[in-house]
Amino acid sequence: MNRLCSSSYGWRPAVRWKRRGGELAAIVLVPTTCTAQLTSDFYKQSCPQALQIIRSVVKRAINREARMGASLLRLHFHDCFVNGCDGSILLDDTDTSLLQLVTRLRFWEVLPIPMEYYWLLSSFQSHGLDLQDLILLSGGHTTGLARCTTFRARIYNDTNIDPEFAASLQKGCPANGGDNNTAPIDSTTTHFDTVYFKSLLQKKGLFHSDQELFKSDGSDSDTLVQHYANSPQDFKVDFGASMVKMGNIKPLTGSDGEIRLNCRKIN
Ligand code: HEM
Ligand SMILES: *[C@@H]1O[C@H](CO)[C@@H](O)[C@H](O)[C@H]1NC(C)=O
Ligand SMILES: *[C@@H]1O[C@H](CO)[C@@H](O)[C@H](O)[C@H]1NC(C)=O
Repeated sequence: MNRLCSSSYGWRPAVRWKRRGGELAAIVLVPTTCTAQLTSDFYKQSCPQALQIIRSVVKRAINREARMGASLLRLHFHDCFVNGCDGSILLDDTDTSLLQLVTRLRFWEVLPIPMEYYWLLSSFQSHGLDLQDLILLSGGHTTGLARCTTFRARIYNDTNIDPEFAASLQKGCPANGGDNNTAPIDSTTTHFDTVYFKSLLQKKGLFHSDQELFKSDGSDSDTLVQHYANSPQDFKVDFGASMVKMGNIKPLTGSDGEIRLNCRKIN
């Protein structure tokens, strides 16, 4: 990765998912461009192997640790929701490797905003995304782990939760202490499947924000969750489309942006 970064850097960290036999296979970081329009083949001439190299590096990282795919996906989401997908999340004044960066993000303290339905939807809408994108992109929670501190209030105090599910999680996440203990976000955490949505139908969403998307109130949100729970193919295709949409939030074009020579520093 360093080789690519230092020669002609320009990650546009759009993440593309490939599904192979239901398993997470690869994420591809798409290079940026400095011309007026963004292209997905920026390195076609200068480094034709770029995408292949990135794919194999990411694949290796995921083989070493399955959670890495999830962590990179979340990294991309957080980059995009802060001033567009400009890779600014990679910027650091210290010499940080991607692994260190991912580790830091895994312990990131998020503000305790009440993650209610209307807040989630308006947050997505403020980025040009709609309800369907909110449902689909939340489906990113089909993979990865979460720390006790992020779901404690839900498993002890929420009512819209399956009681047995809550009790089983309480074993690994005590009311006090154990903040860093982790639980899988859905029960098939290394598989890109629709179990995340199926769980919502059974009040088994891990996060309050997840369960907000299905409250058995006959809303459009409910209908979408039900649809994707039963349509793995639609989920796969539509998730990809929403990822591209998210990856296009506030693109820097023309002289507004730059191709970094080193992904950790502005030129
Ligand atoms: C809708 C608003 C969202 C909320 C409130 C939310 C909340 C969370 C929380 C609380 C965690 C656990 C973090 C921790 O343990 O410190 C998490 C993890 C994760 N989120 Fe989200 N998330 C949202 C949207 C998304 C989106 C759009 C994606 C990607 C498409 C995503 C992908 C992930 C992944 C993959 C993980 C697991 C990361 C890992 O295992 O390292 N999330 N999210
Ligand atoms: C549950 O709610 C009560 C009453 O609001 C509060 O005192 C307590 O800290 C909450 N527990 C958790 C784990 O959030
Ligand atoms: C959780 O892990 C982070 C990062 O390693 C550490 O700074 C923090 O003190 C830990 N918290 C607890 C309660 O163990």
